[in-house]
Amino acid sequence: MEFNSKNEPSFLKVLNFLKTHDTEYLSGQDLSDVLRISRVAVWKSIKKIEELGYKIETKQKVGYKLVDKPKTIFPWELSSGLKTKFMGHTIYYFDEIDSTQRFSHEIANKENNGAVIIATQQNSGKGRIGRKWISRNGGIYFSAILFPKFDISFATVFPMAASLALAKTIEKLCEIKPELKWPNDVTIKGEKVAGILVDVSLQSNKIDYLILGIGINFDINEKEIQKELKKTPNFYGVKSLGEFSKNIKPIKFLQTLLKEIEAIYFELESKEIENIIKEWTKRSSTIGKNVKIPTEDGIIQGKATKIENDGALVVENKKKSTRVIAGDVVHLEK
Ligand code: BTN
Repeated sequence: MEFNSKNEPSFLKVLNFLKTHDTEYLSGQDLSDVLRISRVAVWKSIKKIEELGYKIETKQKVGYKLVDKPKTIFPWELSSGLKTKFMGHTIYYFDEIDSTQRFSHEIANKENNGAVIIATQQNSGKGRIGRKWISRNGGIYFSAILFPKFDISFATVFPMAASLALAKTIEKLCEIKPELKWPNDVTIKGEKVAGILVDVSLQSNKIDYLILGIGINFDINEKEIQKELKKTPNFYGVKSLGEFSKNIKPIKFLQTLLKEIEAIYFELESKEIENIIKEWTKRSSTIGKNVKIPTEDGIIQGKATKIENDGALVVENKKKSTRVIAGDVVHLEK
């Protein structure tokens, strides 16, 4: 099943009317008269709306009343109440897809800045460094297509900036303060709650487009995923936001996150890197720790001392100070 915000499904008229009149029962005849569609079309719409997980109470000879909504991030639910200037103004939704990141690349050149691709499940979710991202029902998985005006040198800071936006969202909506693990993992009590993957497409040394992919363990079964990932190199545990996000619906969470990402995107476009690095460092669980980073040229080990303006991590030991641009950091202490 898939929807996109450019082609509104026909049942939306009925759904929107039920939503704005959810304190009363509406008869099929009333809906048909007001919306100027046939009784059959009303009935078909009601069936479709129920199929999507909305709860409609039907009283014989009285009519229909909408009593509950599903948690699914349907485009029309995400759009309503989204307060962004451009992020998420085009939305694609898939109940199942291989990878939103892969699909985003496929459509990027025909899309608007800020188009968002969401999936309830991915069967070939991509993680950093060629890893897989397990994407079962309960998580939030999306990619955003972006055409930034900022210079290519900012591309390495962008994933960190996105992790900061996510941390701020969690702080606003949940009862917990997450940590940031270099370069862009969001963790809670040292375990991974979300991952970020940024693909950059270049054209003659300029950013053609950028795909920001975010996977959030919103309400997932930690143990099940833990079991599957145990043998992955540098695996350090999985955390679900579930226990901290009690009453927050995934739609509200994503609306807030898109707004935070947009704010940080504007900050980058106005070259406000220092503030991003400062805010990121404040939340960092890596800075100040003894770390190990396996690289192609061997293992870099020492104390992580700071983040530079291009997102590089500075690691110092008795012998030297090394700038690490990319990699996977292992914390050697709690
Ligand atoms: C990581 O390895 O930490 C990054 C994980 C990124 C996963 C997200 S889920 C949405 C988007 N689609 C993908 O296939 N991957 C990213």
